[in-house]
Amino acid sequence: MSKNADPAFWAKANAHLVRYGGAFSPVIAESANGNWFTDADGRRILDFTSGQMSAILGHSHPEIVAVARHSIGELDHLYSTILSRPVVDLAALIAEISPGQLDRVLLVSTGGESNEAALRMAKLVTGNHEIVGMSRGWHGVTGGASSATYASARKGYGPALPGALALPAPDTYRSRFIDDRGVYDWKGELEFGFELVDRQSTGALAACIVEPILSSGGVLEPPEGYIAALAEMCTARGMHLIFDEAQTGLGRTGTLFASERDGVVPQYLTLSKTLGAGLPLAAMLTTPEIEDIAAERGYLFYTTHASDPLPAAVGLKVIEVILRDRFTERAAVLGKRLKDGLQALQQRYDCIGDIRGRGLLLGLDLVKDRRSKTPDPELAQRVARACLEAGMMTSTVRGGYGIFRIAPPLTIEESEIDLGLEIFDKALAASVTAK
Ligand SMILES: Cc1ncc(COP(=O)(O)O)c(C=O)c1O
Repeated sequence: MSKNADPAFWAKANAHLVRYGGAFSPVIAESANGNWFTDADGRRILDFTSGQMSAILGHSHPEIVAVARHSIGELDHLYSTILSRPVVDLAALIAEISPGQLDRVLLVSTGGESNEAALRMAKLVTGNHEIVGMSRGWHGVTGGASSATYASARKGYGPALPGALALPAPDTYRSRFIDDRGVYDWKGELEFGFELVDRQSTGALAACIVEPILSSGGVLEPPEGYIAALAEMCTARGMHLIFDEAQTGLGRTGTLFASERDGVVPQYLTLSKTLGAGLPLAAMLTTPEIEDIAAERGYLFYTTHASDPLPAAVGLKVIEVILRDRFTERAAVLGKRLKDGLQALQQRYDCIGDIRGRGLLLGLDLVKDRRSKTPDPELAQRVARACLEAGMMTSTVRGGYGIFRIAPPLTIEESEIDLGLEIFDKALAASVTAK
């Protein structure tokens, strides 16, 4: 019997764990190193999801391990009004590498928190409360963030916050604004979206929150020009713009920040998953002008782990390694290799409807047939299972789609990309015929 089936382990898990995200994966992880983790049978599994889209330097990167070991013995956690050098140094470094004048930084633990921090500040500074999100955006499960999250999990929890409004997410593959010739009128779609927002608004628009590539919603990459047009529409309404770069920040898409492609600097930018490279660390960035107003009005976002030194020390090392080892450039080059390989698979498998994304954040969209573009979530589940059996961890998006989010660590080797493609090939071959 596979040690992953350990009856005592699963009996304990089933008796004592809350099922926070559907079914658990059918393996027991014993250790993780580099771009792999090892299961209870001693089988190595290639991590094509970077943990939860976070471990951009792979697992147990020696320099991160050294910093974490040192910090836990030297300076771990403090009363939240006490500052330390790692915190101030990290804030300064983030301000230096980020676009525009996003020079004031709040350090917290999770993506949801960093978005709450931005949303609260936007409300306090604009004096308004309406928040516009994308119809397939994901910003976290805390109150404000989940109210602006439309990718999934809205049903059954009662009302979202008053003033939660949605724009249609830009979808270059399935948008209703794609005509018979395949031309996508994204401008028309955006104008239509804002027309609806304006009609629903009570005159209290505060902010619009958007991922530069909508990851959990299906790796939707807005067309070039879209984000700039969105920014203009926000400015015209006096709204602040929040870029949520939880998954796209720090190199994954081939630029340090994905929003660099769009040439737009928002009023707030949030970082999380990739900043701690697997440890809980997040940041909210804004301009001195905005932060000064917020501070004057008594801005409060006081949390237990705000400005904690240990994760800050880790974040400093993460950024140092990314810049020093040129991981951003590497993501662009290896992302091309991965995309080319997926496109080669698309030539051979009719079920691959679309491949999209940038750098090492790619989407693979499985369909029942290419004409109708009908999603095939069952096929995606079979392929995901077959990948895991063959030694590769993958991630599919929620919400009735058949979309894989492919996001390996930026430390991935060329040979490991090729291996991942081989595993996808075999898993697709086995799954298209199997039911
Ligand atoms: C773009 C984005 N923002 C925010 C979050 C929420 O982060 P956390 O789960 O750390 O609260 C996620 C999580 O998947 C995310 O993908």
